[in-house]
Amino acid sequence: WSCGATERERTLAMIKPDGLSGNYTEKIKEAILESGFDIIKETVVRLDTERASLFYAEHSGRSFFNSLVKYMTSGPVLVMVLERPDAISKWRALIGPTDARKAKTSHPNSIRAMCGLDSEKNCVHGSDSRESAAREISFFFGDPGSERVEHDEL
Ligand code: TYD
Ligand code: MG
Repeated sequence: WSCGATERERTLAMIKPDGLSGNYTEKIKEAILESGFDIIKETVVRLDTERASLFYAEHSGRSFFNSLVKYMTSGPVLVMVLERPDAISKWRALIGPTDARKAKTSHPNSIRAMCGLDSEKNCVHGSDSRESAAREISFFFGDPGSERVEHDEL
């Protein structure tokens, strides 16, 4: 057999400004814990234009980019590191499709269906690959590897 199925994985989850201001945090955390994730780290931050642009750099050429950055800087966000086997795809499945309006009909039990509004204000984020998860976790919580190097250099 393979041990792969039980290998734990980490992903970055974020409750975006409308999710936090709409008081969906407790409901979302309940869904997270019921779905077998452990919340390893969490912090509330307010992104400025530069940080939000950097976080979504892959979309910098898109027509929705400026509006997205404005939305993401409109209030604080709650970022979490979630862990369980297959965390990245399991969290993406739990949040549902990008367009929250479509989610309400196609994935009515998803988090975006519950608290999102449309394709921009979709209330939560989830890393889409191992690479993004590593980048996004470092973006908010730092890279343990590089911390260790800095410590060794002291
Ligand atoms: P994307 O990475 O395509 O979606 P997801 O969050 O599901 O990974 O897009 C990133 C964010 O950009 C998305 O959560 C909301 C915003 N966005 C828009 O505002 N309009 C759009 O048409 C799309 C595709 C995304
Ligand atoms: Mg994405």
